[in-house]
Amino acid sequence: MASTSVTVVLPTFEEFDSLPSLIEALLVVRETVFEHLQLIIVDDNSNDGTEQLIEELQLDWVTLIVRRTDRGLSSAVIRGLQEATTEVCVVMDADGSHPASAIPAMVQAITDGADFAVGSRYVTGGTTEDGWGFLRWLNSKIATLMARPFTRVLDPMSGFLAFAKNTYERAEELNPVGYKIGLELIVKCRCKQVTEVPIHFSTRQLGESKLTFAVQVQYLQHIIRLLRFTHPKLVSFFTFATVGLSGAGVYLVSLKVTNSLLESTSIAIAVSVWIAMTWNFLWDRKYAFWYARSRSFIMQYVGFILVCSVGAIANFYITKSLASSETILYSGMIGVVVGSAIGIVFNFLVSRLIVFSK
Ligand code: GDD
Ligand code: MN
Repeated sequence: MASTSVTVVLPTFEEFDSLPSLIEALLVVRETVFEHLQLIIVDDNSNDGTEQLIEELQLDWVTLIVRRTDRGLSSAVIRGLQEATTEVCVVMDADGSHPASAIPAMVQAITDGADFAVGSRYVTGGTTEDGWGFLRWLNSKIATLMARPFTRVLDPMSGFLAFAKNTYERAEELNPVGYKIGLELIVKCRCKQVTEVPIHFSTRQLGESKLTFAVQVQYLQHIIRLLRFTHPKLVSFFTFATVGLSGAGVYLVSLKVTNSLLESTSIAIAVSVWIAMTWNFLWDRKYAFWYARSRSFIMQYVGFILVCSVGAIANFYITKSLASSETILYSGMIGVVVGSAIGIVFNFLVSRLIVFSK
């Protein structure tokens, strides 16, 4: 184990105050366990003295990369991982939240055969320092629940990670946006055996957290991207059905409006059917069949209208045969329900396989 070569990747943004004690703690690990331990700090142009500090320390096992234009925790981590040349990589926060003393146990988990190790607050033996407000706690719980479809790890939000460099190299379609690089790696490297090493998570003493509201919005987008990666058909279908439901609402509103404006019930129904189909098309193209967005808009539009026409024609005749001016809404409802029932599976399959083929 002591001979295992390890790189610690440390993303930093304005961590000048916290760095000295962390480097000290890493030095202890280096001197007592991993004599080849390397540290790669990826700093996003903090301009807070970090560069001078590292230069003055003159440690040959420490490398500082300063990114002048890019910003972001996950992409900084990826940058550091690209530079690493050792068997095992460890990623941790620089603010003192993650104990360097847990590194040997995390690396051990990897040399024992795990795909991935996370420093965990929620596994037996793990703890979180008091002082987390209710909101931060709730936030963390909700975020953890949302990661449930991807991993059974109790603390998938952790930023304290260890894995073999090989594991990182098998990542597919990495998209390092936001904070949750651990979850991204577990999913995209298709890690099966994830070990949780209990840690005590300390509250940062110096500087402040960079986890902003924007980062939380990014997390929601991240979850959707991961779902598209792991369950593409299910996401397509679920989105298609939701858009269809909204289209039914659009149809009814439009029917009410056009029927009061236009003389002919037939034209009112036809216009409403067309508006609803176009509505469905625009949203489906963007969200249900996201992967085919670069293909011809016109061809897809024509194809979609043709495919939907079976259900749409049924809807048209049912609405029309039942309608008198007071009952137009109810007739429309029955029409749209029957039309959708005909269409939901057929329209989805033909759209997916032909109109929005990859
Ligand atoms: N290079 C770079 N660029 N580093 C960054 C950036 C950035 O844009 N933003 C944050 N960092 C660094 C910080 O300097 C710190 O070392 C580490 O990333 C974590 O940032 P914090 O601002 O301390 O995050 P946090 O405490 O709110 O969140 C941490 O705990 C969460 C669990 O509660 C992170 O580890 C999260 O990943 C984790 O989910
Ligand atoms: Mn922190």
